[in-house]
Amino acid sequence: MPDIFIINAKGGCGKTTIATNLACHFANQQIPTVLVDRDPQKSAADWFASRPKNCTVFDLITRPVNEPFQADIDGAVVIHDMPAGWIPEAQSPVLAPGCQLIIPLLPSPVDIKASLRFLMQIYRSGILEQNLRAGMLANRTRPHVRFHQELMTFLQRIQIPLIGTLRDSQNYIRAMENGISIFDLPARSVQKDLQQWQDILAWLSVDNTANKEPPKR
Ligand SMILES: Nc1ncnc2c1ncn2[C@@H]1O[C@H](COP(=O)(O)OP(=O)(O)O)[C@@H](O)[C@H]1O
Ligand SMILES: [Mg+2]
Repeated sequence: MPDIFIINAKGGCGKTTIATNLACHFANQQIPTVLVDRDPQKSAADWFASRPKNCTVFDLITRPVNEPFQADIDGAVVIHDMPAGWIPEAQSPVLAPGCQLIIPLLPSPVDIKASLRFLMQIYRSGILEQNLRAGMLANRTRPHVRFHQELMTFLQRIQIPLIGTLRDSQNYIRAMENGISIFDLPARSVQKDLQQWQDILAWLSVDNTANKEPPKR
């Protein structure tokens, strides 16, 4: 599977939460997994350090934001937890051809505005014309609050598809606190959350090596 980058210049939208949960999902499937913490704040590394010994094992490494990384395990899934403030560029040394970008977004006016600016920067960078895939992920949604609908309307208007929705749930906060993910909790206690991941995992598993168009640059 091509490398997965969790990106959004806005902090606090769930990048580390999504990166750590994805890493645990793949590791639990016995797929060799590397989580690359590229944030100088090292939240993923802190989380990893508190991971209980009886949980599935995978690698976490820290890397500066623009240093290329190649896993030395064949067939490994590599997930990059990117820092706030990072803007992808067409000549980025870390975005390899075919990579997948997940952009989490929160239902709040401040986050929508900041993410709009980020998306404008992405459009202008020209990376969407390159050989990569990008998807939006609505995070911490609460269907009955006012900004839920505004977020959904915003997402319908942009070119990048919505690949999934994760509800606002204490399960993520508790899991994060304990070095685990919702994929490490008893399925019956996180059923709704596991259900919501299915769309995201399906989007990631689409074989984008078939009928691949050559890069445009
Ligand atoms: N779906 C969710 N439900 C509840 N809390 C969440 C969810 N996603 C993220 N959080 C919480 O939001 C805060 C910011 O998330 P984090 O993953 O650290 O964001 P980022 O890496 O983008 O700065 C954390 O306290 C995290 O536990
Ligand atoms: Mg983070």
